Amino acid sequence: MSERLRVTILGSTGSIGRQAVEIAAFNSDRIEVVALAANSSFELLAEQARELGAGHVALADEAAARLLREARPDLSVDAGDAAIVELAERDDVDVVLNALVGSAGLRATVAALRSGHTLALANKESLVIGGPLVTALAEPNQLIPVDSDHSAIAQCLSGEDDRDVSRIWLTASGGPFRGMTREQLATVTPSQALSHPTWTMGPKITVDSATLMNKGLEVIEAHHLFGVPYPDIRVVIHPQSCVHSMVEFADGSVKAHLGATDMRIPIQYAFSSPRRWPSPVEPVDFQTLGRLDFGAPDLDVFRCLVLAFEAGHIGGTMPAAMNAANEVAVAAFLEGACGFLDIERVIDSVMREHEVEPLSSIDQVESVDAWARACAHKHLHTQE
Ligand SMILES: NC(=O)c1ccc[n+]([C@@H]2O[C@H](COP(=O)([O-])OP(=O)(O)OC[C@H]3O[C@@H](n4cnc5c(N)ncnc54)[C@H](OP(=O)(O)O)[C@@H]3O)[C@@H](O)[C@H]2O)c1
Repeated sequence: MSERLRVTILGSTGSIGRQAVEIAAFNSDRIEVVALAANSSFELLAEQARELGAGHVALADEAAARLLREARPDLSVDAGDAAIVELAERDDVDVVLNALVGSAGLRATVAALRSGHTLALANKESLVIGGPLVTALAEPNQLIPVDSDHSAIAQCLSGEDDRDVSRIWLTASGGPFRGMTREQLATVTPSQALSHPTWTMGPKITVDSATLMNKGLEVIEAHHLFGVPYPDIRVVIHPQSCVHSMVEFADGSVKAHLGATDMRIPIQYAFSSPRRWPSPVEPVDFQTLGRLDFGAPDLDVFRCLVLAFEAGHIGGTMPAAMNAANEVAVAAFLEGACGFLDIERVIDSVMREHEVEPLSSIDQVESVDAWARACAHKHLHTQE
């Protein structure tokens, strides 16, 4: 049993986290879950700890942690943001899965890498905002992408020489509003935005998929993970989400990664890599799959993708400002406090106001994040 992979799951109560718990339970002969963390969902966290036999948990929310301590005196329960970072640093762990949402994941990403652990990274925001500061900490093969597109690209690149890569093609489903006009987008509701056609995900990334900001964040993530220049990263709309991404090489050959639209596959691969384990996912049946369609994104309608490319090109602290503005605007949209198109308006306004600096430290990224949040709140309340 001592040969089992020792894993910590940060964000275990979320969409990725719950699927990771399922994968850990399915592979209990290979995976030992040491620690779990979440924000405030203490009842689910307690249930997961019991199911997996994890002895250490942390909750960012202090009040939720107090309730959990009362309910489960047998568990070691820590509280606060620092406690989550400490879980990422524990020395009795091999792999940290960071499935926190938003820029809140940055400190854990940094802590896991500095501690020498393998980092299975679902929290794309930490790479978007921390960029080269994060990648500089990673040894070869220490940072394993969990995002389906980036897991696909990493697998397409396996056995290839980086010098032969000519382009990366990131596939996007197009989200629930594919084909809509800006007039139609002006009146869409949060519940419409939350009905994603192909993936079941947490609320923030689901709205990001509807605005195409998710693909924009993934473009920046791909740039940092694979060192490919922005002009060589292309986004293609692929409504069936069966092709998870593609790499094009100097001779015109293209390698694509295909599979079921099920995050349990890339989550499990982040643990099994470079080997593959049997998974609980039903494979694609190509005899009944039907057709695969591809097309260009409508950049006149989905402006968030344009803003993300722009932030990536500018670099420095701009992606951190853009990301924070997006987090604030998406939360406001979900609360019914602004319209769908206000998301891009707020991001655009914050980016115009941001005075970009070269990236220098995690503290600097966090202070830009705080500035951009305040700036975004200001623009949310101004109709331009
Ligand atoms: N869902 C997908 O299919 C998918 C695919 C690719 C990439 N990703 C990326 O994976 C990450 C997680 O996405 P998700 O969809 O799983 O999100 P989610 O369902 O909203 O779950 C987020 C998790 O993080 C915890 N959390 C939130 N804020 C926190 C904070 N301030 N401190 C500590 N914990 C906090 C939540 O705890 P509570 O439950 O207590 O709130 C929950 O466990 C995101 O970066 C997303 O872009 C997701």
